[in-house]
Amino acid sequence: MTVNDERANAVENAAQPEASDEHLQKIWDRVVGRRAFLRQAGLASAVAVPASAIVASGAGAKVLGRARDQPTKGDFAILRFLCAAEIIESDLWEQYAGFGGQASAGRPNDGQNGFYVSALENLDSDMPQYISDNTDDEESHQAFINGYLMSKGQRPVSLEPFRTLSPSQATGGGTKKRLTNLTGLNVDTSWYLRYRAVTNPDFGATFGQAVTIKNQPVIPVSDAETPPGDTESAPPIPADPVQQRMQAIANSAGFHFAMIEQGGSSLYTTMSLKATSLEVLRIVVAIGGVETNHFSLWHDKAGNAVADPLAGVTDPKTGTTFPNLNTGSEATQTNLILPEPCEFIPGLPDCSVVRPTIDALAGAQAAVAALTADGLFNGQSDDFFRFIKRLARDADAAKREIG
Ligand SMILES: [Fe+2]
Ligand SMILES: [Fe+2]
Repeated sequence: MTVNDERANAVENAAQPEASDEHLQKIWDRVVGRRAFLRQAGLASAVAVPASAIVASGAGAKVLGRARDQPTKGDFAILRFLCAAEIIESDLWEQYAGFGGQASAGRPNDGQNGFYVSALENLDSDMPQYISDNTDDEESHQAFINGYLMSKGQRPVSLEPFRTLSPSQATGGGTKKRLTNLTGLNVDTSWYLRYRAVTNPDFGATFGQAVTIKNQPVIPVSDAETPPGDTESAPPIPADPVQQRMQAIANSAGFHFAMIEQGGSSLYTTMSLKATSLEVLRIVVAIGGVETNHFSLWHDKAGNAVADPLAGVTDPKTGTTFPNLNTGSEATQTNLILPEPCEFIPGLPDCSVVRPTIDALAGAQAAVAALTADGLFNGQSDDFFRFIKRLARDADAAKREIG
């Protein structure tokens, strides 16, 4: 194995997102600061080794590497894209947490916007805690994958050169420049119908939108419009347009949470089928399982936006409205959140599975296309799209090299 994978370098050089020593060290520090990781990797004695030295010398590979089961170039391409996806996830979840999370010793700046918090709590009183925990998970995913890449002599993935978007001006937005834009999303809600169906998009099934959410903010965008000190009435929500607006923003966020995490469930499953190294497969499957865990939680919470007593909320500004999905067909019943068995392997019985899991619908390039259509990258540079698409192409091109 070479110290730096040539293909990965070619990708990096295309957009010049060179990780500075300082940034690289920061990532490494976060990884080795986790005692559990150290124990598992047997790396406790390597804490004092500068990250740059490990990358430069390949010492990380010697410490962590195994004689057999070395990752292939395809494995590294998979992990590089997944790491970029986790950095993107971290960026959007950090915004949600800043506005609506639960402040704690570890995350003292979470939950800054009381009005947003109380609207989220109308969906479930534990929403702030779940948001902060989900954010922790994403941050651990990206730090771990970068740590793993570095331990194998690979350069870490950095999107820092693309951190150029202005944060929301509302209380809780902070001052840090962002990678993602949560101020005007087209939230794809078809997952709600897909996981209740016996048909599978991998075999051509298509699904409409459970709720139409277009050009909709999912975080507060202005203190003038949604004063952070205001409070949300307990449901049912009154006709006060300021409260209606904030509740619609929170409801839309609830659907977006699930959209993001079901996408992660499909992406990781799809990538696992391309991995060669058993260790890389373990990483992809183990992190992917947590994405699915997140999805299931958010699926349940989103359902509360389209059930009594919250159903009927309409955003007076965007017109986004949340119908009662318990009054129509049983197929949309809000407590049917566990996946319905569906077509899986032709000729065999239906099975309750993650779907889709084919490249065209759930591979890396499909994920980039879906997030772009979502509006998550509105305002991002051409260089960003070139960089992320190239990582995605390389990940999709990976093939399992067994047998
Ligand atoms: Fe993640
Ligand atoms: Fe996730």
